[in-house]
Amino acid sequence: MFAGSFEACGKIIPVSYVQQAQNARKSRENQIRTFLEHRKWPSEGWDDISIELLLQELSVMDSNNFPGNVGAGEREGRVISSLVSRRHFRLSHGIGRSGDIAAVQPKAAGSSLLMKLTNCMALDAIKMAGVKSAKACLVLPVATGMSLVMTLLTLKQQRLGAKYVIWPRIDQKSCFKCILTAGFEPVIIENVLEGDELRTDLAAVEKKIKDLGSENIVCIMTTTSCFAPRTPDRLEEVAKLCKEQDVPHIVNNAYGVQSSKCMHLIQQAARIGRVDAFVQSTDKNFMVPVGGAIVAGFDEKFIDAVSKTYPGRASATPSIDLFITLLSLGSAGYQQLLQQRKEVYSYLSDGLSRVATTHGERLLSTKGNPISLAISLEKVTKGLELNAAGVTQLGSMLFTRCVSGARVVSPDSTKEINGYVFTGWGAHAQHYRCAYLTAAAAIGMTKADVDTFLKRLDKCLSKFSAKEVTVSGSIESDDQDEQELRDGNENGLQKIAGNEATDNSAVNR
Ligand SMILES: Cc1ncc(COP(=O)(O)O)c(C=O)c1O
Repeated sequence: MFAGSFEACGKIIPVSYVQQAQNARKSRENQIRTFLEHRKWPSEGWDDISIELLLQELSVMDSNNFPGNVGAGEREGRVISSLVSRRHFRLSHGIGRSGDIAAVQPKAAGSSLLMKLTNCMALDAIKMAGVKSAKACLVLPVATGMSLVMTLLTLKQQRLGAKYVIWPRIDQKSCFKCILTAGFEPVIIENVLEGDELRTDLAAVEKKIKDLGSENIVCIMTTTSCFAPRTPDRLEEVAKLCKEQDVPHIVNNAYGVQSSKCMHLIQQAARIGRVDAFVQSTDKNFMVPVGGAIVAGFDEKFIDAVSKTYPGRASATPSIDLFITLLSLGSAGYQQLLQQRKEVYSYLSDGLSRVATTHGERLLSTKGNPISLAISLEKVTKGLELNAAGVTQLGSMLFTRCVSGARVVSPDSTKEINGYVFTGWGAHAQHYRCAYLTAAAAIGMTKADVDTFLKRLDKCLSKFSAKEVTVSGSIESDDQDEQELRDGNENGLQKIAGNEATDNSAVNR
C-alpha cells in the first residue's frame, strides 16, 4: 500500500490498525530508500519480502508493465508465458543498449536501475573481499571464460598489431580457449616445481617479453584460483614486470573472491605494478546459478571500454540473481560465509591428510593454494601398476558414490586443444612427480560435507587398492551396491547414500 492510500484504508478498517501497518510498511520503504540513496551493499541481509517489494517496484518502472502501453517496435519486452514472466520478476527488457551493456535503457528504467545497483554492490563485495582499491566493475551475463574473451577483445582495440598472450600454464580448458576465441596466439609458460608446488616461472615470462617485444604482446594473463598442486601465480612480480615493460595484465580470478589470499594478491599486484582487469565468476563466488561474471579493475575507463565492447543488449538474469543474493546475504552474511570457508579449508586439509596417511599416501604440501588441496596417489597407483585410464577410475568410483568435483590426475595424460598439445594435461606441468587427487574447500561447503566426502574417499581408496584392475583400466566390482549404482539403479543409490552418509546433505544436493 502506498502513501496516499492509507487514509482511505482508515475509512474501511480501524485507523489504529492502519497506523500499525503503515509503520511496518515505512520501515521497509526506509530500507529501500537508504539503499537507493547510498548505493551501498547493506550490511544486514534483507528478508524476501523487502527484496520482492523492491523488485516489484522496479518492474513497474519498465515499459512492458506500463498500463495501456502499446509497443510499436520489434522488441517490446513481450513474454508469452506467465511462468517465464514470473521467473524474471516481470523484468523482460534485459540490460544495456546496443553497443554498451552498461547503458541506461529508456524503455526499462527499472531494469537499468537494477543493473547499476548490482554493479555497485558487486564492487562493494570485491572491496570487502580484499581488493580495496578497485575502482569499477561490471557484471557480464557470461561466465568467466567468455568474460575473459570480452576483456581480451577490449585490449585488442588498444593494442593494434599485438597478437601474443603470455599465459603461465593452468590446465583448465576455458582459460586456454579464451585466448584462442579472442583470436590471439597463446605463449605458454610452463610452471616450475618448488617442493610439491607448481609456481610461475618468472624468468621465462621476462625472457618471453624481451624475445617477442612488448609492443607485440596483448597482455600477460595470470591466474589466482586453480587446482593444487599449482598455486596462484606470482602476481606481484608479474604486475611489476608489466608496469616496467608497458604490457597489460589480466588476472583470471575465477573463484578467487572467496579467498582473502587471492584477493590480497590482486590488491598488492595493483599497488606495486600493473593490473588492467581481474575476472571472477558469479556462480563460483556467490552461489548463484552459472551465467555471470564480474570484470573489475582499477581504471574506470578500461571497465567502461569493456562494457562498450559488448555488442547488443544482454540478459538481466545473472544481474538479477546476484542482486537478490547480495541483498539477501548482506555483507555481514557474506563475510560469515568467507570465514566458514576458511575453517572448512583447515578441516578438509586435516581430514585429507589423515585419510591419505591411512592409505600410505600424503597430503601434498601446497600451502600456497588457499582453496584446493591434493593427496598423492603414489602407493595406490604403483601397487597396481595402473595406466592413466586406471588412475582416473578412482574419480569415477567417487562420482558413482555421489562425490562430485574431486579430480584424479594422472601425470601422463596428453590433450590437444586446437592444435596445441599439452603433455601431462590436468597436472599443470609436463611431468608432475605423481598421480594425485584434488578436492576444494569452496564457499558453501560444510564440515558435514567434508565428513561425508572423507568417509567415501576412505572407502573408495580401500576398494581401489584391493581391486583387480582390468586391462581396459576399469575396476572389477564385487560390491553389489556399487554395481547397482553403475547400472543406474536408484535403490542402489539410496542404499549407498543411506549406508555411508552420516549427513545426507552432499547426496541431496
Ligand atoms: C581457473 C579457471 N578459469 C576459468 C574457468 C572457466 O570458468 P567459466 O566456466 O565460468 O567460464 C574455470 C572453471 O572452473 C577455472 O577453474
